[in-house]
Amino acid sequence: MTRVFSGIKPTGPVQLGNLLGALRYWVTDQAEADTIFCVVDLHALTVPQDPAELRARTLELAQLLLAIGIDPAQSTLFIQSHVPEHTELSWILECTAAFGELRRMTQFKDKSDNADFVSAGLFTYPALMAADILLYDTDRVPVGDDQRQHLELSRDLAIRFNHRYGDTFVVPEASIPKIGARVMDLQEPTRKMSKSEDSPQGTILVLDDLDAVAKKIKRAVTDTETDVRFDPATKPGVSNLLSILGACTGDDPHAIAERFDRYGDLKSACAEAVVETLRPIQQRFAELSADPAGTAAILATGAEKARSLARPVLERARANLGLLPPA
Ligand code: TYM
Repeated sequence: MTRVFSGIKPTGPVQLGNLLGALRYWVTDQAEADTIFCVVDLHALTVPQDPAELRARTLELAQLLLAIGIDPAQSTLFIQSHVPEHTELSWILECTAAFGELRRMTQFKDKSDNADFVSAGLFTYPALMAADILLYDTDRVPVGDDQRQHLELSRDLAIRFNHRYGDTFVVPEASIPKIGARVMDLQEPTRKMSKSEDSPQGTILVLDDLDAVAKKIKRAVTDTETDVRFDPATKPGVSNLLSILGACTGDDPHAIAERFDRYGDLKSACAEAVVETLRPIQQRFAELSADPAGTAAILATGAEKARSLARPVLERARANLGLLPPA
């Protein structure tokens, strides 16, 4: 059975881009693959975090994943820091990665430019991400478009390690959706929607009040001409709304464009589709929030399962590297 692994950082509230670019595929993958999903709290530490907030966000994110439809009977769901094998393999992969290739990572450049403090962890972040993936003999990794370069690096590290030390890791494939892989900010549609960015009117949070969601979409920046066309280069605002609507309904954005003559009608249809996508998630989240102990129990079982899968892979890497086993 195909092994699928993916992760999400608890660095801020989950936004529509996370849902449409990645999380909804996690849910559908459950029916056909052996799925493992992880709240990657160690990745959040690459930038300073408030401890109480990090703790609360980590649990909330796990609850939200369950609310979206991650089913613990079908998937392994766990918190990254509960499985110490991730950090051990991360060191091994830091020693496999070249300084130059980490320096070329565009996310590192974006996040370190103009930052007051750049942690060494921000630089080595992609090695930890590769460890997350390679630790589970992963075949396929469902992610949004912004993770493409990190996935390429994970593949390169697996290939390089296998070449140097013998067959050890499965070489993973990225799985990036055709529609919704890059949801853009509603106010600045040339920039991707992001939970860490400070653009409250341009960002739809999965747990936003539903009236506010509809208002944000109706106030989205559109483009100067008035025709409805899917053309991200010249009509980024309208194309973003078409992609969002298409991702919610499963229709092709070009075909949707033909159904609308006016921006206003497109905005109304998009607002309704997003609201109806979020409504059941919010209802389930409210139920799950009332039972944090239930989520903690699911995460404990998930971590145990994850460790049992990770340990033999790490042992294989240690043996092939020539690390002396303990007596
Ligand atoms: P993160 O936490 O930033 O985002 C989680 C997922 O959401 C996708 N995404 C988007 N998709 C479409 N449009 C957007 N505007 C948008 N914003 C975010 C991301 O592509 C991602 O799939 N490095 C990863 C976390 C990670 C990981 C892993 C992922 C750590 N280890 C191993 C896969 C496998 C990240 O920062 O995602």
